[in-house]
Amino acid sequence: MSVAVFVSGGGSNMQTLIDANFDIKLVISSAKNAYALERAKNHNIDGFYVGKRNFEDIDAQTDEIMRLLEEYKIEYIVLAGYLSIITEKLISKYEHKIINIHPSLIPSFCGMGYYGHHVHEGVYNSGVKVTGATVHFVNQGVDTGEIILQDTVCIENTDTPDTIAQKVLKIEHKILPKALDLLINDRITVKNGRTYIK
Ligand code: GRF
Repeated sequence: MSVAVFVSGGGSNMQTLIDANFDIKLVISSAKNAYALERAKNHNIDGFYVGKRNFEDIDAQTDEIMRLLEEYKIEYIVLAGYLSIITEKLISKYEHKIINIHPSLIPSFCGMGYYGHHVHEGVYNSGVKVTGATVHFVNQGVDTGEIILQDTVCIENTDTPDTIAQKVLKIEHKILPKALDLLINDRITVKNGRTYIK
């Protein structure tokens, strides 16, 4: 059940997967100095930077990523704060084998421009009383794949985008391992744009 995790930042979501003893064989970062690569190294997991500075364009990056996925015999891919593009070529090869954690309740506060802290700023400015996180399959759209798991947090009047981010990150760390466990144990079926958990 070999897993690859794609990262771009601190890697706290990846850390929860490592701590849950998933068979993570490979880490790919779109950011050269992502702390997530340090975390991988600390756990003797091979990590690679694949990005603009070492591959000329997204097609060359995709070819390198696919080469690495083959070499490490990867079956499942988790996007955990990954900020680069997943191309159609990669998606079609790993259909319904790639999941992403998004820090809002999709379909709210997602899509183009809604990543990282921008999500929580949008949530804060909107005045909603509940937000949360979503794990979904990755398809050719931005945050549009079938939803697998969601969980919520309440927003208090004392909250700020920063405190909202902290609350949501705790939810992310809860639902991502659960969703990956469902995926690798083949407990998710997809029908008409909806997932069914067996
Ligand atoms: C998380 O908030 C995740 O939802 C978003 O980027 C952040 C990644 O955090 N996509 P980390 O790198 O896993 O700590």
